[in-house]
Amino acid sequence: MKICIYSGTFNPVHNAHIKVIEGILEEFDYDKIIIIPNNIPPHKNNEDIASAYDRIEMLRLTFDNPKIEISDIELSRGGTSYSFDTVKAIKEQYGITEKISFVLGTDALMGLRSWHRFEDFTKEVDFVIVQRQHDYNVMQILLNLNIEGMTCIMAKVPFLDISSSELRASIRKNSELTPLTHPKVIDYIKAKNLYQTYTFDEIINILETEFQSHIEHSVAVAEFGARLAQEYETDDTKARIAGILHDCVKYLSKEKIIEMVKKYHVDVFDHEMKSPRTLHGPLGAYIAKTRFKIEDEDILNAIRFHTIGRKNMSLLEKIVFLADKIEPVTREEEFRTKITPELKKGLDYAIAKYYELLLEKLTKEGIEVSDYTKEVADYFQKRAAV
Ligand SMILES: [Fe+2]
Ligand SMILES: [Fe+2]
Repeated sequence: MKICIYSGTFNPVHNAHIKVIEGILEEFDYDKIIIIPNNIPPHKNNEDIASAYDRIEMLRLTFDNPKIEISDIELSRGGTSYSFDTVKAIKEQYGITEKISFVLGTDALMGLRSWHRFEDFTKEVDFVIVQRQHDYNVMQILLNLNIEGMTCIMAKVPFLDISSSELRASIRKNSELTPLTHPKVIDYIKAKNLYQTYTFDEIINILETEFQSHIEHSVAVAEFGARLAQEYETDDTKARIAGILHDCVKYLSKEKIIEMVKKYHVDVFDHEMKSPRTLHGPLGAYIAKTRFKIEDEDILNAIRFHTIGRKNMSLLEKIVFLADKIEPVTREEEFRTKITPELKKGLDYAIAKYYELLLEKLTKEGIEVSDYTKEVADYFQKRAAV
């Protein structure tokens, strides 16, 4: 049996993959092409990666050809996907002893020497090389690689200039998806709301262009918050997102903020209305939800309460609250050095210290402290005293 393997993330499958698979089936006489989505370990999940189930489903919806098999071999194996292990397993499954075909784009070909057991791997496979149009000189790449016993076949079908990341960005921009992937994949993505969240870099870009944000402090809160989250063994991605968005509307004018709070009927306390500087907390959470499509209630609450705090804050809320006050890039050193030693004892101690310093400062400046703030300060000071 002549088998060709095509492995990739397929996040999601798009027209360049489809053309390559159809082209290879047409050009060569394979009995079967096995499409193998890679497993992505959770800690690498910093990009917008759909679940294994969804990636497989989208592949199944795309191909209706008995010669095409979608395999979950790497997904069910778990851990990092090594092509060497996969190829060995497939050959064993089909009782194949000679080389088996393996599709490779030219960019992947260039990096072949960094692959797990690349020399053993090249002994197991014939590479089917797919080029982008006007691509690199494949002969030159092969000469540079200089791997003994390596065999290649050039496929005629070009790899179209479409990428999964471009497709995901188009989904978020609500652009036309028809030229990019199969209609059933488009329907599936829309029905399941996949790839709706922005990447960290996209968020920064929107903050700077639409919200005139001074990004330095927010990036610092995101990074410091993520470090604290790791220390407290909670989700650092959530801390990073809440951190980058916590001040998303802060740099708009005071008038604009008040106008937006009223226009969108954002739920705020009376004492927040009297102190408009704090309004960017509740309005920020509203914008995080509506403009940045954040659905996670814990992230939204961390943004909502980073200004005024509250009793019974969740772990994430405490982390973002503190990271905002003591991140090491833009916050005053004097303030930071007083709180940081308390942080070694625990988050509640550090928050209690923050409130102690805040009340001191407000009293000194003759600013009236709201009952709300007094209560929250009291709550944390009691917790720290236990
Ligand atoms: Fe803030
Ligand atoms: Fe802030």
